[in-house]
Amino acid sequence: MLTTVVIKKKIKKFDKKIFVSGDKSISIRWVLFASLASGNSKAQNLLISEDVMAAIKTVRRLGIKVILNNKFCKIYGKGIEGFKYKKNLTLNAENSGTLGRLILGFLINSTRRIKLIGDKSLSTRDFKRISDPLSKFGGIFKLKNKKNLPLTVYGSKNLKPISYLENKGSAQCKSAVIFAGMRTSGTTFIKAKKSRNHTELMCKHLKLPISVKNKKNHDLIKVKKVREIKPFDYKIPSDISSSAFFIILTALSKNSKLLIKNVNINPSRIGVISILKKMGVKINFINQKIYKEEKLADIRVEGGKKLRAINCPTKLNSGAIDEFLVIFLVAAKAKGISYFKDLAELNQKESPRLKWGAKILDMMGVKNIVTRNSIKIYGDPNLEIKKKIIVKDYLKDHRVFMTSVIAGLSFGGEWHIHDKDSIKTSFPNFLKIINNLKN
Ligand code: S3P
Repeated sequence: MLTTVVIKKKIKKFDKKIFVSGDKSISIRWVLFASLASGNSKAQNLLISEDVMAAIKTVRRLGIKVILNNKFCKIYGKGIEGFKYKKNLTLNAENSGTLGRLILGFLINSTRRIKLIGDKSLSTRDFKRISDPLSKFGGIFKLKNKKNLPLTVYGSKNLKPISYLENKGSAQCKSAVIFAGMRTSGTTFIKAKKSRNHTELMCKHLKLPISVKNKKNHDLIKVKKVREIKPFDYKIPSDISSSAFFIILTALSKNSKLLIKNVNINPSRIGVISILKKMGVKINFINQKIYKEEKLADIRVEGGKKLRAINCPTKLNSGAIDEFLVIFLVAAKAKGISYFKDLAELNQKESPRLKWGAKILDMMGVKNIVTRNSIKIYGDPNLEIKKKIIVKDYLKDHRVFMTSVIAGLSFGGEWHIHDKDSIKTSFPNFLKIINNLKN
């Protein structure tokens, strides 16, 4: 089967309204919370992608019934202690760092040894960042090379609360500790560098005994033992990270206009919007509303404005962490030298993304200087690509694939992008929406 996408032409001007698939972070969290609720919960617009399917398969292996069809997903929760830990249980997080890391917070009270595995990419990623704090609760972890998957976890029924300093700005680390705190008597204290806060907002919506104090650069979170999660239905809003590819395609396309409906614009996720606005892109939020503590809006973008370089404030990093690859394309067309720094975390993603950002720019002929945690990009407002570019061997990182497609449609050249199945992890509809914009 042909899995290479070939792009030979720039996209023509478009003026469209689109719907992007459900938010991945919220979808996975809903599956996990609903699986521990005391009763049945239903979601609409759940993202049906490999990462979310891996979450569904995981809770099924833990004894939870899930019905999934093309209208809804229904989860038959059996209460906060409802997971069944079978003998020799192996769970597979596949490509999903979010699933692999968050689920460990809930497995910490397992009465049996559980093995967690993942795909090639996930098996190279750091799980010590999770096993370190969770060991302090009383769980026992054994990791390959002391850092990676496969790992085994032996839970405990006698967990002790901890004080935890989260200083990477990782929502996955913060959430795993919140979940473990929910299983533990006493109060767990977390001081966390700012990162996406969907876990905290879902806890607030569910009225769980978790309090959050927002300080300027960090949050103070207190977690107490959770006795019950009430079942809850959820209409998952669209994903800002998936929307970002189309926002940027529009920004790079002269006279194009786009309206994206019902997107999650949680302030901890819209770093990409702040960065693009600073670079001169015209973006508006309309029909803003609050849904289950989350902020939603339609996003309107107008393309072809003059773009300026940015010295990107590091306080925007965590809110744009999944969008930098595609943001680098805007820097490639902006007037001046853009500078993005303090981004070592980018190399901890599905592929070493800072390196891949530089590699894509190199292939495009865009001058850049990359270090282990920063990149300078020398923009050219008249950038046109004329050569053949082959994108391959990128650990099937979905965002490398999608960024390459946007680059081909925006700057021309002949792009051969391998492994189109990589989009199945987060955004199976991506190419369908691209085709809709083309016609
Ligand atoms: C996520 C957190 C981020 C992000 C990932 C999803 C989440 O990872 O990159 O795509 O849903 O909690 P880190 O916590 O490693 O920053």
